[in-house]
Amino acid sequence: MPTILISGTNRGIGLEFARQYAQDGWRVYACCRHPDKARALQQLAEKHKNISLHALDVADHKQIDTLAGELHDVPIDILLNNAGVYAGASDESLGTLNYEMWGKSFRVNTLAAAKMAEVFLDNVACGEKKLIVALSSLMGSMADNGSGGSYLYRSSKAALNAVMVSLAVDLKPRRIGVLVLHPGWVKTDMGGPDAEISAETSVRGMRAVMDKFKLKDSGRFIAYDGQELPW
Ligand SMILES: NC(=O)c1ccc[n+]([C@@H]2O[C@H](COP(=O)([O-])OP(=O)(O)OC[C@H]3O[C@@H](n4cnc5c(N)ncnc54)[C@H](OP(=O)(O)O)[C@@H]3O)[C@@H](O)[C@H]2O)c1
Repeated sequence: MPTILISGTNRGIGLEFARQYAQDGWRVYACCRHPDKARALQQLAEKHKNISLHALDVADHKQIDTLAGELHDVPIDILLNNAGVYAGASDESLGTLNYEMWGKSFRVNTLAAAKMAEVFLDNVACGEKKLIVALSSLMGSMADNGSGGSYLYRSSKAALNAVMVSLAVDLKPRRIGVLVLHPGWVKTDMGGPDAEISAETSVRGMRAVMDKFKLKDSGRFIAYDGQELPW
């Protein structure tokens, strides 16, 4: 049974990833900050016995280490860094930039992916698929930035992209692949109700990209519809 560990599975895109992979018979290690309060995820886990729930605040390195200790002998095919934050228009805008929140955005959107890769590296190396994935955003692309603003989010996702490219280079000799994905503009709490696509469409598309992944694709930045994106 293939295995996947996903962060931020209590709502939005992460919950949909957990749903689709569980339905397809994967063993899903579904992580979120408060499993005891994650009603939708609990219901999913009641339906699919191949889902287990794990407490994980990705900003808390001690919690990441604890989870890695609990799962130390578990092969992980895909390590999926999904959890992310957008601080909100006021905190993200020139003139009212929230520098404390900027640090928090980096901790969740950037540093967590590096820390997760460090501590789960042996698990991924033992998996068959050997893939580390981060949900980035086209907003992290400097080439695409024609509208400015969103300083915290754009910079933390751009830095995430840099982390993932270094991981791709460093891990290629171990035959571990790295993918940077853009989910599209998705109807979730973060994307809002006016977004272009459903979480179901986004996740189906990203799963297709991951299914097709070959080591030669490592370090690429790809959208849910398979389109290659500029850095
Ligand atoms: N929606 C879009 O249009 C869009 C576009 C581009 C990229 N993305 C990226 O896609 C990913 C998922 O986004 P989404 O739309 O599903 O967002 P969302 O609906 O806001 O959900 C965010 C998820 O991240 C979790 N999270 C936040 N901080 C965390 C932390 N410190 N530790 C663990 N989990 C934490 C949240 O958990 P809590 O409930 O505990 O806060 C929640 O499960 C993010 O990385 C986002 O940047 C989304």
